[in-house]
Amino acid sequence: MLGNFKYSNPTKLYFGGDSLNNLKEELAGYGKNVQLVYGGGSIKKNGIYDQVVAVLKECGKEIFEDGGVMPNPTVEKLAEGCQIARDNQVDFILAVGGGSVCDYSKAVSVSAYCEDDPWEKYYIRFEDVTCKTIPVGCVLTMVGTGSEMNGGAVITNHKQKLKIGHVFGDNVFPKFSILNPKFTYSLPKYQMVSGCFDIMSHILEQYFSGEDDNTSDYIAEGLLRSLITSSKAAVKNPEDYEARSNIMWTATWALNTLIAMGKTTDWEVHMLGQAVGAHTDATHGMTLSAVSIPYYKYIMADGLQKFKRYAVNVWNVNPAGKTDEQIALEGLDCMESYMKEIGLVMNISEFGVTKDMIESVADSTLVMEGGYRVLTHEDIVNVLTASLS
Ligand code: NZQ
Ligand code: ZN
Repeated sequence: MLGNFKYSNPTKLYFGGDSLNNLKEELAGYGKNVQLVYGGGSIKKNGIYDQVVAVLKECGKEIFEDGGVMPNPTVEKLAEGCQIARDNQVDFILAVGGGSVCDYSKAVSVSAYCEDDPWEKYYIRFEDVTCKTIPVGCVLTMVGTGSEMNGGAVITNHKQKLKIGHVFGDNVFPKFSILNPKFTYSLPKYQMVSGCFDIMSHILEQYFSGEDDNTSDYIAEGLLRSLITSSKAAVKNPEDYEARSNIMWTATWALNTLIAMGKTTDWEVHMLGQAVGAHTDATHGMTLSAVSIPYYKYIMADGLQKFKRYAVNVWNVNPAGKTDEQIALEGLDCMESYMKEIGLVMNISEFGVTKDMIESVADSTLVMEGGYRVLTHEDIVNVLTASLS
């Protein structure tokens, strides 16, 4: 393992079909005023809303509703949430939903009492939190982002055509998260597989960096193997508890900082995907799937040994009699077949991106320096152009 690092994760997890039973005890530790954050209404259809509200009432909480959080939450919605938090002096924010709801709740937590413009402070200048924060807890209903056990909060600014994530520190991580795999059964297939690819991408963003022999990479390979098996099973049978629970647990460990230890990490796929998302408002995981194969083929030669290892250890490519390049490429071909098999979006044209938008998308793409190649503007244009079809 390279470098010196600290590892801790303050989020307490409750996992399993009975995990909502722990909400009452957790809520007891916080004040009376609870901001109940949720999305566009899925939790009202599948009954999760009623279950959560029943617990809140049992605990004698005053509920301040903050619904309508959209996928890819916006700066405008963030301002609305901050107003609700301040006006009602909320003591606790309960996020019931997917990554968008969890991210938004963390963003409200750090922005409600921010003296500055939160977008400018956190998302443009990447400054630390200096104001009072509001504690957040999550009941997760969509799997993929890892937001339930990390400090990430991604916000979209459509006017500026920017979608940016700030990774906040330990004090902003959810205090607890409730992970009931059954809560994900009602997800449409499009969202489910998009979440699966988000998980895969999180793991790969951390895996494809460094030349050393690192325990984090072995953990990453195990998580990937579990994800591939379980995602195929869940596509066949969405109510396969074993598969859904494995996917849920893998998602959490894919992005709760563990497998980044001792690594520089890449994240360029996310930068490309977020730029596409800022222009199209497309579903996060699908923006990643649409650019991944072109990106990895583009940088494969720069990290050849790792791509070879990926092919053999994750995709069971038989290396006998093949060159390193052939092995690495066969791994990416297996990945591409798997992606098509589970029904992922494989090109950015599907979101409405056209050739004449490429320059603008490239301008919004942040350049990362921890992977196998630092992309130039021309490289980004090339990868995005290859992602058109
Ligand atoms: O809004 P509702 O009606 O609830 O519907 C949602 C939404 O339309 C639906 N959904 C969620 N749970 C459901 C359900 N539908 C039926 N049954 C259920 N049980 O799914 C749709 C997508 O939800 P969303 O929360 O947007 O998805 P996801 O979890 O993928 O979150 C995406 C956001 O997270 C950010 C993304 O950029 C994006 O803004 N990310 C956050 C990260 C982090 N915190 O570390 C990292 C990620 O890379 C990602 O960037
Ligand atoms: Zn992601």
